[in-house]
Amino acid sequence: MSGAAAALLRRAILKAAHDPWLASRMRRHGMKLGAARFVAGESLDECIPILRSLNDRGLLANTTILGEGVAETAVAGAVAQGYLTVLDRLARERLQANIAVKLTHLGLAAGEDVAYRHIARVVEGAAERANFVRIDMEESGRVDTTLRIYRRLRAQGHERVGVVLQAYLYRSAQDLDDLAPLAPNLRVVKGAYLEPANVAYPKKADVDRQYIRLAEQALLADGYTAIATHDDRIIDHLIAFTARRGLPRDRFEFQMLFGVRPQLQTDLAGRGYRVRIAAPHGPEWYPYLMRRLAERPGNVWFVLRNLIRR
Ligand code: FDA
Repeated sequence: MSGAAAALLRRAILKAAHDPWLASRMRRHGMKLGAARFVAGESLDECIPILRSLNDRGLLANTTILGEGVAETAVAGAVAQGYLTVLDRLARERLQANIAVKLTHLGLAAGEDVAYRHIARVVEGAAERANFVRIDMEESGRVDTTLRIYRRLRAQGHERVGVVLQAYLYRSAQDLDDLAPLAPNLRVVKGAYLEPANVAYPKKADVDRQYIRLAEQALLADGYTAIATHDDRIIDHLIAFTARRGLPRDRFEFQMLFGVRPQLQTDLAGRGYRVRIAAPHGPEWYPYLMRRLAERPGNVWFVLRNLIRR
């Protein structure tokens, strides 16, 4: 497929991620059609054995209660409570796993203070259990608020929290410079949303180049870097970079998604690198699955094949 055709397909899939009709159809059969490859179960009970099997393979883990765009304060409060339950369970089961949350799942649409109140509760809960919370990064229109909330948490003395920067955004190198004095725990990703060309690099080659720049910038700054990519060319480059600069292996980790390049995950762990696998769970998996399909249109055929086989 040409680059232009792949970009068109990516746009179409990301648009379909917001289609309620498709979402309701997919929810009915989707886990059987292939979502189970990327989603670690529809409940916490289903997710726990998957996290344990990742730990058994020498991998650290991370989970998320899937969901986003919650506008009702009470619903968002219940999500925060759900995360405290997840943290309790991770501690009780002695899993090497932390959590990642989306601020729009914690009520950002109801107001910045609503989301702050909820995330602060979750981060406090994580600290009480010696765990850690990653705040995912969503659409470009949410970046300012997300970084403001992260700074506010840090200003209030919360240390067990990290944030994400997206290499496809023109602004990210500046955001990293601005965050540097906080010695942040940063996850660097390429970026998974549909963004206009006035805020994000439209060409994949530029995004890949920017990813390397941003990751190197993060690795050289104070703090901790999560290199979240499945791109083995970039991973090889950054391994050579950290070796050349003498960066200790406890200053960074690799992160990948459940169901994506499992062999690369175990190979890296076998070579003595920290590798963390993001294994989200919950019934609201549809937009998450669509972003995974958009990253690799070949995955669409994987789902269609399962559909034909039924
Ligand atoms: P790229 O897309 O170039 O893929 C490199 C290779 O990896 C592909 O050739 C293919 O072999 C394999 N691959 C990648 N994606 C695949 C898929 N879905 N299925 C099968 N194979 C695939 N984004 C965001 O905007 N905000 C966030 O908070 C996060 N959080 C996050 C956490 C973690 C742990 C990861 C790994 C990723 C994210 N992302 C994210 C998603 C990220 O922005 C990006 O969309 C994906 O990681 C895909 O990009 P790669 O860096 O893997 O490179």
